[in-house]
Amino acid sequence: MTVKTMNPIFEKLGMKYPIVEGGMTWAGTGALAAAISEAGGLGFIGTGYWHGDDVRKEIRRAKDLTDKPFGVNVMLLSRHIREVFDVIIEEKVAVVATGAGDPSPFLDELYAAGIMVIPVVPSVSLARMMEKKGVDAVIAEGMESGGHIGMLTTMTLVPQVADAVNIPVIAAGGIGDGRGVAAAFMLGAAGAQMGTRFLTATESEVHPNFKSKILKAKDIDTIVTGNLLGNRARVLKNKMAKSFVKNEVNELQQKNPDVAVLVKMESGTLRRAVQEGDKEGGAFMVGQISGLIKDEKPAADILSDIWAQASDLMGIENTTL
Ligand SMILES: Cc1cc2nc3c(=O)[nH]c(=O)nc-3n(C[C@H](O)[C@H](O)[C@H](O)COP(=O)(O)O)c2cc1C
Repeated sequence: MTVKTMNPIFEKLGMKYPIVEGGMTWAGTGALAAAISEAGGLGFIGTGYWHGDDVRKEIRRAKDLTDKPFGVNVMLLSRHIREVFDVIIEEKVAVVATGAGDPSPFLDELYAAGIMVIPVVPSVSLARMMEKKGVDAVIAEGMESGGHIGMLTTMTLVPQVADAVNIPVIAAGGIGDGRGVAAAFMLGAAGAQMGTRFLTATESEVHPNFKSKILKAKDIDTIVTGNLLGNRARVLKNKMAKSFVKNEVNELQQKNPDVAVLVKMESGTLRRAVQEGDKEGGAFMVGQISGLIKDEKPAADILSDIWAQASDLMGIENTTL
């Protein structure tokens, strides 16, 4: 089997490694995205529920730190989505990734601005639809991931999406070392996306408590909240996560469940984890691969170490050396 590790999109972006940073609300800052792009991966700024001005500030911060292309991840559920897309187009960002939904209403204006579009897809049907609408690649994200998740695992989703579409597929969810990256290629992916692994990069600006929670985590330390609400998110088990799940079960057993109570309970919890390191009240979104992550090191070392291991396992020449 010959493994082609550089797809046309990554070549166009001048990347050294076929490795992407997953957009991360609050945690995916301009500084981290710039460090990853500067080192030869593709960094993404996570914009979550920010206003356009906040997004512009982080884009400019990243531009000050690198001349390399980087991307912006947009949460399609955000109320500020219109202003966020306006800023992305004004700032001539190279790539947009979209999470939590169907980006169809925004595609034409992004194409017209020459911006590459790479939506996150949790299913074959959305991947097929996105290919028809002309996107450049898709990110097939399994439920091992940190953050909001779908129903399928990376192992099952990636090969099915890879068989269904002819555009590059980037695998995400549960990738934390070179074995994971090599596995992604074996499943038919043309690149790998990591979120959790980059949270402990030296340049990651998450609170030290967040980093130390990942470094101490074991394989079984995550839990999925929002199962009943239909808004599933993987987080580390703590007081907040356990009481959320308990309240979710209680509330939805009521005759007239009050979903607003649960939404209010969740509100602001990721920011409290990322910026305040609130150990009990924060939502520490991380993936199941946390148990494998044992060190904090520069993004450049994460990328080069992972790629050295992956290329060795795949028996291909490490052309980045
Ligand atoms: C703290 C955190 C926040 C995230 N926020 C977003 C987001 O705003 N948009 C999105 O598309 N994905 C988001 N994700 C998912 C990542 O982009 C990525 O696909 C995922 O982390 C990959 O799985 P891994 O954590 O096992 O590496 C988030 C993940 C984490 C850990």
